[in-house]
Amino acid sequence: MAGKLDGRVAFITGAGSGIGRAAAELFAAEGAAVAVVDLNGEAAEETVAKVVAEGGRAVALAANVAVAADVEAAVARTVEELGGLDVLYNNAGVDSRGSVADAEEADWDRCFNVNAKGTFLCSRAAVPPLSVRGGTIINQGSVAGLVAVPNFAAYCAAKGAVVALTRSMAIDLAPRRIRVNAICPGTVFTPLMEPMLRARGDGDLEAGLAKTVAKYPIGHLGSPEEIARVALFLAGDDSSFLTGSIVTADGGMTAQ
Ligand SMILES: NC(=O)c1ccc[n+]([C@@H]2O[C@H](COP(=O)([O-])OP(=O)(O)OC[C@H]3O[C@@H](n4cnc5c(N)ncnc54)[C@H](O)[C@@H]3O)[C@@H](O)[C@H]2O)c1
Repeated sequence: MAGKLDGRVAFITGAGSGIGRAAAELFAAEGAAVAVVDLNGEAAEETVAKVVAEGGRAVALAANVAVAADVEAAVARTVEELGGLDVLYNNAGVDSRGSVADAEEADWDRCFNVNAKGTFLCSRAAVPPLSVRGGTIINQGSVAGLVAVPNFAAYCAAKGAVVALTRSMAIDLAPRRIRVNAICPGTVFTPLMEPMLRARGDGDLEAGLAKTVAKYPIGHLGSPEEIARVALFLAGDDSSFLTGSIVTADGGMTAQ
């Protein structure tokens, strides 16, 4: 059966863990050759091993999305080794700690550098190869970019920037045949969210999970695979009329 991404090349950042890893596996299963990009090179290699074991094609690239030279080298290697670029998934992200009353300046900078500036740098580097045959960019937002999450000030602001940037990119890149959409996931149980869930339960992860699930009308948290399937829809031709869309995948959390 034909895959939804047959013959395409996808560049996925933060693909050494969580949602990015799930997306790398799904995109490869749907026929894409995948550049697995992560700050943690070993984690990227582990994802590639999983993809290859499932019969897919992928390369691991260690890069910091917040460093222009890293990103430009990773995009150049992708084009050279995988034969072009069709899909950029700006997924790499980090969380933050505290409200504006107590957040650390360094934490604010790190959060903006990875989540917001990383999205800009990767997109800038990817635009020339994406323009060759038309392409798609998926930016990873968060419900935190749409509604307030307590004690997550820098993260809320950085994801809000990603949402605004998505709309800006969509209109600027449409003439180059590049569609740009964002996903705003609700809570997905990955290594990124574990500290927040633990803190919410005063150190007890199960209690934190129960408190969080109570905020979700659908009655459960998201899984990396559920978000990866939304990304697949935005990456492929099924979403051909979508650009500038902010797709919430949050079990109804922001509908209340
Ligand atoms: N998990 C959630 O509940 C949730 C909810 C909404 C949005 N998100 C967003 O989804 C994305 C993925 O989150 P996840 O939960 O899978 O996280 P995760 O921590 O499991 O994975 C993130 C990956 O990004 C990599 N990374 C971090 N900084 C990087 C950098 N500077 N350059 C390159 N790679 C870097 C990490 O090494 C890690 O492998 C993030 O943007 C996150 O903000 C997550």
